[in-house]
Amino acid sequence: MTREEIVRCLRGECDEELFARSAKIREELYGTKVFLRGLVELSNVCRCDCYYCGIRRSNSAAQRYTLSVEAVLSAVKRAYDEGWYSVVLQCGEQRSESFTRYIEELIRGVKELSDGRIGITLSCGEQSQEVFCRWREAGADRYLLRIESSNVELFEKLHPAEINFEERKASLRVLHSLGYQTGTGVMIGLPFQSIESLVDDILFLSSTDYVMCGMGPYIEHSDTPLSATESPYTRAERVVLTLRMIAILRILRPEINIASSTALGTLDAAARHRAMAIGANVLMPNITPSADRSHYSLYEGKITDLDLTGFDIAYSHRGDALASKKLENKKN
Ligand code: 5AD
Repeated sequence: MTREEIVRCLRGECDEELFARSAKIREELYGTKVFLRGLVELSNVCRCDCYYCGIRRSNSAAQRYTLSVEAVLSAVKRAYDEGWYSVVLQCGEQRSESFTRYIEELIRGVKELSDGRIGITLSCGEQSQEVFCRWREAGADRYLLRIESSNVELFEKLHPAEINFEERKASLRVLHSLGYQTGTGVMIGLPFQSIESLVDDILFLSSTDYVMCGMGPYIEHSDTPLSATESPYTRAERVVLTLRMIAILRILRPEINIASSTALGTLDAAARHRAMAIGANVLMPNITPSADRSHYSLYEGKITDLDLTGFDIAYSHRGDALASKKLENKKN
């Protein structure tokens, strides 16, 4: 796809063709299978002050919590007993020796309770190379770190100066070099975001360094500074832009794991299903103990449950590897 073609797709000039093409690739590789990762929201304590995020450190209205190691492991054990083989451990960003040890303890605990069978994805923000390395050595398999926007000017409008665009990109390179299966992603429909900048995002996400991508619509949170600036896109437009972004990425990177995000489901439950049909192959249902779910409020109205009826569920993340094999065979 040329840049011009991507622009036309994002403008909605070829929806029918676009979705037919991406759905076909999705179907050839993954059939109708949906890969589940159980999401545990470990803690909403965060050192960052991102202008869009409801758990930013300056939001004094956020009620802070951190799950105990026991609570996390028992939620994971329950999921494992039901047949789940993949979890995502996500939290606000913290940097301290005790936090590093907490995550290490969780990684070892999850591997132990599943005889090494559960795949672990971390989503715990930017860390030093040493910390990324310690978690990898403890057994983490994958790491999600969104670039949020690949456009440096927009990135700087979304984050205070202490969060640095070049450092974010360097962290992604470090993760890749440490052997993590690395994923990144962006928000779609932000204030100040142009279609051209979404094209840049697509080209960024389609780099072969990334084997996973999570992208979803931006949703305002009234306790954040960014909510004072209106987005140029209506919520309905953000939903359809997200679908087009997913479809284009599936065409450019047939084998990549693409999640259909909670944010998309929050704006439009049916769109989350539609995303699975036209390109996405991963769902991350929340398995956080329910008492704490409402506090992990990244944006307004964030849904805490996902109805899995009607999905063709594949519990094991090993299934993805099989699909990639299928692709390789096709190429040969
Ligand atoms: N709208 C949509 N997504 C958001 N995130 C944080 N705040 C918002 C918001 N207001 C996303 C970011 C982050 C992920 C955990 O949640 O992309 O990386």
